[in-house]
Amino acid sequence: MFGKLETLPADPILGLNQTFQQDSNPDKINLSIGVYQNAHGVTPIFTAVKKAEAQLIDAQETKSYAPQAGDPLFLQHMTQLLLGDSLSAQLGDRVGAVMTPGGCGALRMGAELLMHAREGATVWVSDPTWANHFPLLQSAGLKLEKYAYYSPETHAVDFSKMLSSLQAIPIGDVVLLHGCCHNPTGADITPEQWDQVISVLAERQLTPFIDVAYQGFGDGLNEDAYGVREAVKRLPEVLIASSCSKNFGLYRERIGAVMVITPDSKTTAAAKSHILTAARSSYSMSPYHGGGIVGHLLSDPALTQEWRSELEQVRARMNRLRGELADGLNQSQTVKDFSFVAQSKGMFCYLGIPLDAVRALRSEFGIYLLDSTRINVAGLSTENLPVIIDRVSKVLQR
Ligand code: LMR
Repeated sequence: MFGKLETLPADPILGLNQTFQQDSNPDKINLSIGVYQNAHGVTPIFTAVKKAEAQLIDAQETKSYAPQAGDPLFLQHMTQLLLGDSLSAQLGDRVGAVMTPGGCGALRMGAELLMHAREGATVWVSDPTWANHFPLLQSAGLKLEKYAYYSPETHAVDFSKMLSSLQAIPIGDVVLLHGCCHNPTGADITPEQWDQVISVLAERQLTPFIDVAYQGFGDGLNEDAYGVREAVKRLPEVLIASSCSKNFGLYRERIGAVMVITPDSKTTAAAKSHILTAARSSYSMSPYHGGGIVGHLLSDPALTQEWRSELEQVRARMNRLRGELADGLNQSQTVKDFSFVAQSKGMFCYLGIPLDAVRALRSEFGIYLLDSTRINVAGLSTENLPVIIDRVSKVLQR
């Protein structure tokens, strides 16, 4: 049965992280996978999450199945976190939410829903986008195309190109947008640009599929939800994939949610039934633990406050480090102006250096970034910054 199988290449992100783990260089630095690290290189558990988890375990009396769509408290609070209290209340049953195994599960279930709605539908993704968007959506049977997004010359979104590219998308197709903190470039569109993008979506009857994996890592929990909320206010149908991996630090618990918003509760109930059926035919229902933690945390005002302030500290630290990286690189070499690094949002940023420089950083100095030049800003620390600045400058000035 299995004798003819060829070994497949490793995933570009998980594979590189694995290579890093196996590297025996004692000075190695991991800027590859999107995982937050504190000043000691540790990915900490948020104190509020730890407390919520302890309380949840203490109060839990059964391990019997949770409702198929997931923990109701989790779904209610995640909807409010993403859409805000008043918009969520206004929408009521027009929102259908299902708990999923991570943001990947949400993307995949969203993809299955799109396939049920229109087989072989085309989804347009930003150029570039997160590498895993391709296998996640294509393996559900969707076709993927790219719309213009990032300019390597300006190290920013080429907005006029993006807009004209969106205007050329055939009526009725799906557009995948990053809600905030664009992965991999860290280049986001502004609220005013979101308004214009949403107008094009409305004109061309394009359905947005919004991936929100970093809410709270950009400008703040509400600020980062601007695009999603405006899309929901102005468009009849929106599909959202959200993740609790980063903003709750629940990476290994695999917790996220897929949400579908349609013009009426009957259509939403039908769409939700397709998500539940797709889940049932693959993993039945999402694991409960992570959703239980988040649902409990967000229903407790004191824990919520604690989590929000911890999240603010994480964001402030990343912003300080990205500023220090930009300044340090600008001071230590003259080949390239790195000021754009300070403008990036969220966990990632493209360094925009040649591929041979990326490879030299890895092989000679044990500094791991993706071939695309994406770095995980959350992998920087006061301790490793001088080393990174020195080594990047070295490889650039050869
Ligand atoms: C990343 O982009 O590094 C993260 O989202 C982790 C992953 O699963 O790829």
